Amino acid sequence: MAGLFITLEGPEGAGKSTNRDFLATRLQALGQRVVLTREPGGTPLAERIREVLLEPTDEPMCSDTELLLMFAARAQHLDRVIRPALADNAIVLCDRFTDATYAYQGGGRGLAMSRIAELEAFVQAELRPDLTLVFDLPIEIGLERARARGRLDRFEQEDARFFDAVRTTYLQRASREPSRYHVIDAAQSLDAVQQTLEALLPALIERRHA
Ligand code: TMP
Repeated sequence: MAGLFITLEGPEGAGKSTNRDFLATRLQALGQRVVLTREPGGTPLAERIREVLLEPTDEPMCSDTELLLMFAARAQHLDRVIRPALADNAIVLCDRFTDATYAYQGGGRGLAMSRIAELEAFVQAELRPDLTLVFDLPIEIGLERARARGRLDRFEQEDARFFDAVRTTYLQRASREPSRYHVIDAAQSLDAVQQTLEALLPALIERRHA
């Protein structure tokens, strides 16, 4: 694979999308070709799976269904968007990816990490992000920000214990593989976060040409 695959992770309300757009603008200004995308979703079909995943329903969705739908959407997204963009030498900036599955379905729902790893190997083969930015913040702040946005989706309706497990899982994964992850304190001002991102840019571009 020729391009660079960067994922943005973190709990609700951590500012991932705003910072993804900021990074895209800065990278484009530096002459880089960027593909912006998100999960679950990123293609018309995968966005339909996203709606099924996020819409609160009367029939509770069982955790295995949720896990398989995440990977079904991912398979489509990889095939239609991510792999072609990387093969075409673009920088892919993806709002959430498989780390979210470990954090939400593994940490939050309590599914076995080994099962997630099996699906990861099946759907992605060797493909992993080159860099994962984890926007970390205390869960109360994130939930407050998410609630301020209005109607809560199926995940945002979960309780503090769930989000605590999500956050812990992200931080554990980041500490186990520091070469791939960069943890950013998202409780800082947006200005401070963006200064941190700006400082990462030269290394990113260098890595791309390495
Ligand atoms: P978003 O609101 O950040 O776009 O993400 C949608 C929700 O989907 C968010 O609550 C996290 C959740 N999610 C998972 O539970 N597992 C996954 O693998 C992904 C990609 C997202």
